[in-house]
Amino acid sequence: MQIISQSSEWASVPLLPHQHRGFVPTMGALHEGHLALIRKAQAQNDQVVCSIYVNPAQFNNPEDLARYPRVLAQDLERLAEFPNLLVFTPRDEEMYPAPPRLRFDFGKLEQVMEGQYRPGHFNGVALVVAKLFHLVQPHRAYFGRKDLQQTLIVKQLIDDLSFPIELVVCPTIREADGLALSSRNRRLSLAQRQQAVLIPQTLFEVRRRIRAGGYPLPDLYQFVEEQFAQSALRLEYFQIVHRQTLEPVAHLEAPAALALCVAAYAGEIRLIDNVVLTLQKEL
Ligand code: PAJ
Repeated sequence: MQIISQSSEWASVPLLPHQHRGFVPTMGALHEGHLALIRKAQAQNDQVVCSIYVNPAQFNNPEDLARYPRVLAQDLERLAEFPNLLVFTPRDEEMYPAPPRLRFDFGKLEQVMEGQYRPGHFNGVALVVAKLFHLVQPHRAYFGRKDLQQTLIVKQLIDDLSFPIELVVCPTIREADGLALSSRNRRLSLAQRQQAVLIPQTLFEVRRRIRAGGYPLPDLYQFVEEQFAQSALRLEYFQIVHRQTLEPVAHLEAPAALALCVAAYAGEIRLIDNVVLTLQKEL
C-alpha cells in the first residue's frame, strides 16, 4: 500500500501505456461496501487508487460534516489487505485553495430526492469528483448503487465534461439482516440499529408486492407511510421512480426499470437506501 497525500506525488506513480487505472473515491470510515468496490476495481485494472477525503462542499448541514466519522488510522489498517493499493488522502488546502465558485446544473436529476432534501449536495459531489478525476486520471471509476442518484449525477458529469472514464456501478452490500452498509451506521445506538432494519424490510416488501402485481400505487405508498409511522424512524421520503431519470412512476406498467428509494432518520442520523427492479412484459 502506498499513501499519496499531495497530488505532486502522482508524477512518481508510473502507469504503462496499455495499463488501466481504476479509482474508488470514498469519504473513509471504510466498510465492506467500500472494500467490495476496491476488490472489483482490482479485478478489472492493473492499478487501483482509493481516495479518502471528507468533502466539505457536499455537506449542506455543518453538524453532519462535523460528526462525519474520521478514522484514517483504522481505514489504513483495513486497506492493508490490498497490497498494491494506492491510497490518496488529499488535504482541504489542496482540494479547495479558495472557496469554489463553479456551479453545476443537473436539471431534474438534482431536484428530486437527495437533491431536494440536501440542497447543494450534488453540486459539492460533482465538484470533488471532477477534481479527483483530474488528479487521479483513472480509466474506470467505481461507485455503489447504494447512492443511486449519485451514480446518475456522476454519469452526467462524465458525459458532459467528456471525461474518458468508464463508470462501473456496483451492487449494494448489506448486513445479514438487510441493512445497507454505511459509514453513518457507526453512529447508530443499539436500539436505532435494530429499528433501522425496517428500511430494507419495507423496500423488499414493496418490491415483492410490485412483482406479485395487483397492488395499486397509492396503496404501496400508504403501506410504507404506515410502516414508518408505527416505528421510531422518521420517514423523509419514499419514492417509486424510473431508474434512469428518477422521475416518479405514474403507473406500474411493464416494461419499466424502476427504483424504490427511501431516506429516513434514526434519531439525528439520516439513512438512505434503494432497491431496483425490472418489470418485464409477459410474452
Ligand atoms: P462514501 O459515502 O464514502 O461512499 C464511497 C462509495 O462507496 C460510493 O460510491 C458509495 O455509493 C459506495 N458505497 C457506500 N455504501 C455502500 C454499500 N453498502 N454497498 C456498495 N457501495 C457502497 O459517496 C461518497 O462517499 C462521496 O459522495 C464521494 C463519491 C466519495 C464524493 O465525495
